[in-house]
Amino acid sequence: EDLNKAVNTQVFDYSTLKDAAALLKQGKLVAFPTETVYGLGAIANNETAVRGVFQAKGRPEDNPLIVHVSDISQVHDTVANVSPLAQRLMETFWPGPLTIIFPLKEGVFAPNVTPGKKSVAVRMPRQMETLLLIEMVGFPLVGPSANLSGKPSPTAVEHVLNDFSGTISGVIKAQSPISEIGVESTVVLADDEQIVILRPGAITQNMLGKIAPVVEMTASQQLANKDVQSPGVKYLHYSPEQPVYLIPIEYTISDWLKEMDKQERKIGVLADEKMLKALEANKSFYSSYSLGSEGDVASATRQLYAGLRYLEQSSCEIIFAQALLDDDAGHAYMNRLTKASNFVL
Ligand code: TXA
Ligand code: MG
Repeated sequence: EDLNKAVNTQVFDYSTLKDAAALLKQGKLVAFPTETVYGLGAIANNETAVRGVFQAKGRPEDNPLIVHVSDISQVHDTVANVSPLAQRLMETFWPGPLTIIFPLKEGVFAPNVTPGKKSVAVRMPRQMETLLLIEMVGFPLVGPSANLSGKPSPTAVEHVLNDFSGTISGVIKAQSPISEIGVESTVVLADDEQIVILRPGAITQNMLGKIAPVVEMTASQQLANKDVQSPGVKYLHYSPEQPVYLIPIEYTISDWLKEMDKQERKIGVLADEKMLKALEANKSFYSSYSLGSEGDVASATRQLYAGLRYLEQSSCEIIFAQALLDDDAGHAYMNRLTKASNFVL
């Protein structure tokens, strides 16, 4: 795709998937919905199309892409080896928000899908439109999150259009207004008898622990490793333009108010409904976005990126974002919010 030339970005849905598939087969870029976030799709055996994905996102070219399949047999056809542990993980968690790293088979995917790697990351999303789309294309699709590099990942078709209207050929609009999970998939290595989490997500350590022993390799551990496993961790991610303050879970309403009173800047608040009501009763501030009911971790995770995007566009000058308990269920939320935050109080 010639990215210097403006294109008309078409919005497809369930009834026009064939047209979207035809564009992908021609090497065009079409974003697709998944249960985690929208992906920026291109057919994974076309080097020019894949280069277009990096260019459109402004993504560093050493950061490998995830390949999306529509069934498990596609994995057996396209990777060098499937360990028994990886097979069990696919059977247990697919379709779903789990990405598994496999040994690369030479000559299958375009080389720039896996720059400098001897491995390839694969997942099967839990989104009917996208599974059908991949089937129609007849080959796996690359799909990094469909956001400009450094922006929060997109969980709604409007987010994709905001970042790429006029630069990509199309986007498939999901039936639901927001992605079910809301943060990117869990990324794991599953070579021998152990699972190593490279990026936490909705498939949690406890869930994986039912299959095999599991450890999480933190971003700093991955960085300290000279063969950085998951290059994505070294880049600043998910960040709105404004400074984001992460407000600790133990902060009471009066702690929040004290912190807000110190600010001269217009404040945007990302918090649960109960906290927002209590703050609004005591103070007027510029903008707010609700994470959902107090204690609803799934809702908060689903709303996180949409909230950061909303507040960014509200032109507040600083964002106060509420922490959750960093336990098994809250870990993916806290991982992404910490990355988006410049200041942790
Ligand atoms: O939920 C998701 O995974 C979304 C949706 C669209 O499927 N996709 C996504 O892709 O988040 P992306 O490209 O934004 O994130 C890919 C992550 C990066 O952190 C990258 O470094 C890592 O996976 N990764 C990809 N290939 C890898 C490999 N061969 N070895 C280690 N890490 C890899
Ligand atoms: Mg991303």
